[in-house]
Amino acid sequence: MIAPDEHAAFLPRTLRLPPTGHGYGADDGAPSLVHPLSQEKYELYGPACADAFALFWYRWVTGHQISFLLWRLLGDALERSAHRAPTRGEREAMAACVDGYSTMLLYSATVPRELYHTDIRERMSLQHPAFSGAWAPDYRPLRPLFRARFPWQADPSCGPLREALELNHLTHARIADHLVPDGESLLQKHSGRAGVSQEKEELFDGFFMTVRGPVSRSSLCDQLNSRIAGVTADLDRNGLYPEVDGKHHTLAPDPSDNALERLAPNVLLLAHRAAQLSADAENSLEEAHP
Ligand code: HEM
Repeated sequence: MIAPDEHAAFLPRTLRLPPTGHGYGADDGAPSLVHPLSQEKYELYGPACADAFALFWYRWVTGHQISFLLWRLLGDALERSAHRAPTRGEREAMAACVDGYSTMLLYSATVPRELYHTDIRERMSLQHPAFSGAWAPDYRPLRPLFRARFPWQADPSCGPLREALELNHLTHARIADHLVPDGESLLQKHSGRAGVSQEKEELFDGFFMTVRGPVSRSSLCDQLNSRIAGVTADLDRNGLYPEVDGKHHTLAPDPSDNALERLAPNVLLLAHRAAQLSADAENSLEEAHP
């Protein structure tokens, strides 16, 4: 039987974010501090999972919420460098955020395929038959970055950022192929319903328990800290691939790329690195221009 506090660790929580394109709310004076990681390592293959529905729902929502937080930090860095090429610190932070997002794609997608179809995908299609990641509000300002549209992205100094973006595209393709081998997203199945609207963005936010309003930067950082702590507790207890119905539902590596090999053992390290480098880049700018 699961002790109450253990169960509570795997319940998703409401995320509060500023509306896309809006700045942060008034700060309460608290600094934006990223907590140190309590541990980096975990088992890839974990023990039998007591409540697979709860665990993978938690992973789906929390993995997306951490992605939204990293997208927001990535968007902040892009906005700061709107009229100039990003600094070295910003380029490193951007690459780290993209890698952190890649790990969250993998973490979310550790759900066994059958459970994804009977539970998670079903819930998304009940929300809207064409429900899609393309409706994610915080991804909207990042589309040009992910499509390498900024002229500065071609500079040799952006090599690590280009590699992170390449790894991210591979990871998204790999998890999509793994979970939906017939290749059709809900949006593609309902191609007559294309286009994004405010209503769709609100549906998307609501599904992932995300509320928009004034949020200070330190509160955003706290929310990232608490979610990384939650993922740490989960991976410590369950491993990346817990046993469900007598087997581990791994994502098979693809010999043509090493995307999953790079990410699978480093989920905590890469998510934390993204938070840390983003805070460092922001703090060093504040020191230069208080
Ligand atoms: C694990 C969590 C996932 C996240 C965070 C995610 C995120 C996203 C985002 C941000 C986009 C918009 C890209 C753009 O407009 O350039 C997108 C599009 C897309 N995603 Fe995902 N995705 C996830 C899982 C999946 C899965 C499981 C599939 C399987 C079919 C999939 C298939 C697609 C497809 C085909 C598109 C293109 C637009 C569409 O048809 O919806 N994604 N995704």
